[in-house]
Amino acid sequence: MNDHNNHRRKFIKTISTAMAGFAVAPAFTSTNFDKVNNSTSDLSLVNDNSEAYWEKVKQEFLFVDGLKYFNNASLGSSPVLVQRATRNFRETLDSFPSKYMWGGWDEEKEKTRQTVADFFSVSNEEIALIHNTTEGMNLIARSMDLKKGDEVILIDHEHTSGTIPWEVWQETKGVKLVRPKVPILPKNKEELIAIYKKAITSKTKVISMCHMVNTNGMILPVKEVSEMAHKKGILVAVDGAQAAGMFSIDLHDLGCDFYTVSSHKWLFSPKGVGIFYSKKESQQYLKPLMVCKGHKDETIRRLENYNTRNLPEVLGLGASINFLNAIGLEKIHNRTYELKKYFRNKIAVNASLKLKTPAADNLSAAIQVVEVIGKPVSRVKTRLIDQYGIDCRPMSSFGLNAVRLSFAIYITKKDIDYLVNALESI
Ligand SMILES: Cc1ncc(COP(=O)(O)O)c(C=O)c1O
Repeated sequence: MNDHNNHRRKFIKTISTAMAGFAVAPAFTSTNFDKVNNSTSDLSLVNDNSEAYWEKVKQEFLFVDGLKYFNNASLGSSPVLVQRATRNFRETLDSFPSKYMWGGWDEEKEKTRQTVADFFSVSNEEIALIHNTTEGMNLIARSMDLKKGDEVILIDHEHTSGTIPWEVWQETKGVKLVRPKVPILPKNKEELIAIYKKAITSKTKVISMCHMVNTNGMILPVKEVSEMAHKKGILVAVDGAQAAGMFSIDLHDLGCDFYTVSSHKWLFSPKGVGIFYSKKESQQYLKPLMVCKGHKDETIRRLENYNTRNLPEVLGLGASINFLNAIGLEKIHNRTYELKKYFRNKIAVNASLKLKTPAADNLSAAIQVVEVIGKPVSRVKTRLIDQYGIDCRPMSSFGLNAVRLSFAIYITKKDIDYLVNALESI
């Protein structure tokens, strides 16, 4: 066996030990689940930040041959261990469906909630396990008791998941949407804070904002906006679809009222799983989107009751967070910024490539958009996939004419060299 395979085997063994319980499918018990939750700390690779280490991380993701996946912002891939864990949960469920769906996994579900809560440094009583960001944003908007003339602030870069629920209130209740324009390349965070400050009036009830916009990867100043808003009794709802998992986030420190996540992006969970956070004091404003048994539960669990649910995927979310914890959130955070810097430095020397994402680390991270000057982005996108096997997302809104590139943990510097070479050739 060559060195490469040897490394891969050792790495898989280390993480497999950390996630031991998932290996035994039908005999899955809560004891095995405990092992999974308690054994991530014995990972021996914590101090290794070499490219060889990140190559091993990459090998945990199985992409189709020849594909260079720079499109994590659209949808993440689950590492093999997470796929296996979820498959095992499905097999377990199907071995005794009524037992696992109706209470047999209560304890495991609570452990998953705790794993999520710890990852974001909050309490388990502040986390609901939902399906995606779209659901979370709907949950917030549908809960708000707004009246004609009340105002909601949404900058122009907000995703449709976060705008449409408010637009419906605009159409049906006469709520006013205030839509400030934001530059693609703000000079600094203060410029963004000033835009929000200017938009606030005595009628503002909610500020709904992305943590990171999906158009060009710009980070918005959630903490500062929350501080400003709360002084005036305004609630802050955050769409964290593109931020959660990319860098470390302490939700209490961020200070917003609500934060919602699609964990199938940067947390690499099974698809159709999401996270909803509400600060304890702000839970009083929330009503379940769907009402069924459990809708009067006084805890945050009332927001996640749908009767029969995708529990194997929900438990799979715990496996994906365990996988990230096994690598280490701080390490992932640092890697994000390391790859960003590596990419931007390479691009900066080429006059025919233009970065359209702000440079500062408090304004962007692992999503960067680049224009190949003089080429329509649709053509660039087609050439990248057809000629180089590079998948990315073309962005034409806001005059971007640029490809959106995501640098997730399975991207190596060698992959970035390949990407930059392809962009230069085009
Ligand atoms: C910023 C942002 N919000 C919300 C969504 C919607 O995510 P989902 O379809 O998982 O609800 C996306 C998806 O790309 C996004 O980028």
